[in-house]
Amino acid sequence: MVEIAPAAERAEKLASLAAEVSACTVCRLADNRTNVVFGSGNPDADVMFVGEGPGQREDEQGLPFVGRSGELLEQLLGEIGLARGDVYIGNVVKCRPPKNRDPRPDEIDACKGYLRTQLQLIQPKVVVTLGNFASKLLLRTDTGITRMRGTAYEWWGRFLVPTFHPAAALRGSARVLEEMREDFRIVQAVVEGKLQRRIQEPAAEDPVEAHAPDPQQLDLFS
Ligand code: URA
Ligand code: SF4
Repeated sequence: MVEIAPAAERAEKLASLAAEVSACTVCRLADNRTNVVFGSGNPDADVMFVGEGPGQREDEQGLPFVGRSGELLEQLLGEIGLARGDVYIGNVVKCRPPKNRDPRPDEIDACKGYLRTQLQLIQPKVVVTLGNFASKLLLRTDTGITRMRGTAYEWWGRFLVPTFHPAAALRGSARVLEEMREDFRIVQAVVEGKLQRRIQEPAAEDPVEAHAPDPQQLDLFS
């Protein structure tokens, strides 16, 4: 087991990374953003959520999931006894893509180091990917969220629980919401150390490897 630095030290490093990233201009998404949305929450969280990228409200406020999706996320967290401040919430890319289009492979590449460092500093027990985009990317699969969800995957020495994006539950059927509830109960089981079943880890060289050299795999991320 790798030695993990004390929480205070990791929190300090996370804060200085956030300050650094707030001025990042490494990719074209810097051009149209109002604020970088680095991520927020408990720097020593057991649960870290990863969304796709900031939307309009998030871009305006510099915080992740502040709209209706955020409210739903908080409600689902409440149902498993957690508050927003207990968890950490971040995104694959830290700046809003124009018109909320999907982030492009070169943008993901440019930004992924930040996500990787966030994971290394926070050391969550479980990563929860919200929606198809983040789930496919981190699990390196082209299988959609509907088929991937409902279980915890072993992932880089921790668990990954893919679930729907809250916006899908807001738009979609009651069933989507019910399945998100199921997924949050899996998260709760992981946090409480009650998860028995372990699913195999998908083969990958890098936890946030954005695009594979094989061009056929590029469509995983578009
Ligand atoms: N959707 C996301 O994927 N991330 C946010 O921060 C907000 C909405
Ligand atoms: Fe930098 Fe990421 Fe924003 Fe691109 S999306 S400018 S890499 S912080």
